This record gives sequence, C-alpha cells and structure tokens, in this order.
Amino acid sequence: MEVSGRTIIITGGASGIGAALARQMAAAGAKVVVADLNGDAARALADGIGGLGLACDVTRESDIQATVRAAEDRFGPVDIFVSNAGFGVGEPDHAASAADEVWTRNWQVHVMAHVHAARAVLPAMIARGEGYLVNMASAAGLLNQIGDAAYSATKHAAVSFAESLFITHRDQGIRVSVICPQYVATPLIGLSEADVQEGGSLITPDQVASTVMEGIAEEQFLILPHPQVAQYTRLRAAEPEKWLAGMRALRAKALRDLGGIDMKNLHKLI
Ligand SMILES: NC(=O)c1ccc[n+]([C@@H]2O[C@H](COP(=O)([O-])OP(=O)(O)OC[C@H]3O[C@@H](n4cnc5c(N)ncnc54)[C@H](O)[C@@H]3O)[C@@H](O)[C@H]2O)c1
Repeated sequence: MEVSGRTIIITGGASGIGAALARQMAAAGAKVVVADLNGDAARALADGIGGLGLACDVTRESDIQATVRAAEDRFGPVDIFVSNAGFGVGEPDHAASAADEVWTRNWQVHVMAHVHAARAVLPAMIARGEGYLVNMASAAGLLNQIGDAAYSATKHAAVSFAESLFITHRDQGIRVSVICPQYVATPLIGLSEADVQEGGSLITPDQVASTVMEGIAEEQFLILPHPQVAQYTRLRAAEPEKWLAGMRALRAKALRDLGGIDMKNLHKLI
C-alpha cells in the first residue's frame, strides 16, 4: 500500500521504533497520529511532523476507540493501524517467577491491544473494502526471548493473531503485516543509537522503520528487519531439539560471559 495521503495511527509512537516509523511515514506524505502512554512526548513528536499527538493507554479499549475517533475527526478514515506499543521487564528468577500482574500486562499490551485495535477499525475497513493492520511482534514471537517467558509467550500470541486476521480478512481487502525484529537500540532494552556498531546484530529504529516501509509498500505479511530470523525459524521448525540446544547454549553463554541475563548485552552474543 502507498502510505502517501493515508491516515495512520501508531501506538507507542513517541519513542524508539514507533517514533522512527512516524517520522518516515510523515516524510512519505502520510497523516500520522502518534498515540502513546506518554502524551507529552507523543504531542511533541507529532507537532514536528504535522501530525496529531494523543495520550493513549493501549491496555484500555476505550482509549483505543477514542484515538480512532480523534484520528477520523482530524484526518478522515483510518487506513493503517500500527499496533506497536510494547514493553519488557524480564523475570526475576525462574521462568515462572514474573508476577501475575506482569504476565497480565504483557497479555494486555502485546495481544489484547491488537485485538481492540482491530475491533475498532475492522468494520469500517471491511465496509470500504480496504485497510491495513500492522502489528509489532518480535523475533521472540517466532523464536524465544531468553529471560522473559511472558514477553515470548505473548509475542507468539501476537503473531498468531496477525495470522488469524490475514486468513479471515485478506479476501475482504484487508492487508496485514506482522513485524518480528531481533535487538533494536531503543529504551526498551536500555540502549540508544550510539550503541549500534557496524556489522553487529543490534540495529537502529530507523533501520527497522525503513524495512517496515518497504514491507508495507509490498504488502508483505512477515516483515523481518533482521533477515537471519528466517533461517532460525526454519531451524526451529525442522529440528526443534537442535534449535533448543542452541538456545540453551546461548543462555549458558550469557550467564558465563555476561554475568547474567541483561537485555542490554544479549545482542552481543548473536
Ligand atoms: N527494541 C527491541 O529490541 C525490540 C525487538 C523486537 C520487538 N520490539 C517491539 O517493538 C515495539 C516498540 O518498542 P521499542 O523498542 O521502540 O521501545 P520503546 O520503549 O522505545 O517504545 C515503546 C513505546 O510504547 C509505549 N507504551 C508502552 N506501554 C504502552 C501502553 N500501555 N499504551 C501506550 N503506549 C505504551 C511507551 O511509552 C514507548 O513510547 C514493542 O512492541 C517491542 O516489543 C522491540
């Protein structure tokens, strides 16, 4: 889909990948609504790109509905909804040790927010015979995130929900993409662009946004900013025992060489 002239909502658009995407989409001529828990940062970013900035907590369906109404009032029907908001806090100890509140929040932000966004825009998109849902998952949604079982499980669910949207609605003109990056230098993993090194696996939010722009232009379902994820996914499907052994070895290496599981440093091992 061509983004020029389109009305686009980006949740979690005030920082990191969402902010880079908001800037690139606005530069390509889109009418961008930046919706974020941090309303001040959303407004500041939107002011700079001729967009609309709103406070929105994606764990509340009513906030998502209000964001859609505000976008329609300002710019017209929503053409593309990018469900990008996310967070990661890891687990304090064993794989079931994160508090229930953490598991619930992961489920709300990484899955139910995508369900509520689709519920808010799908009926009108289906009526128009056109619309696009772009859902941020993670390579953890195809593989696994060492040290964060709740993040991994809910990102897998996000990929599955995107597949359901595609299977159910593609024949009604609805486009769906799911984005599955590995490590990206953002506050979510405590890093910034200054930490990115040439040839390393850590990439910038702008690099992710560029890949997403290409993926949307080509209407690709699976958008992989790190191409090597395709190969890991094939290994996981074909030889699960071998893939699991590799993941165990990676975790052991993190404990041995990095002194623990720290999201800031894991990219150095891959
Ligand atoms: N950084 C990575 O390595 C990486 C890798 C794969 C996937 N992702 C995914 O990319 C997405 C964007 O993350 P990022 O890395 O740019 O992080 P980030 O921390 O820079 O940005 C996340 C944004 O989401 C917002 N947010 C969080 N909870 C929210 C809520 N309840 N309602 C509204 N907004 C909320 C935050 O305020 C923040 O502005 C997330 O879904 C994340 O899981 C990140």
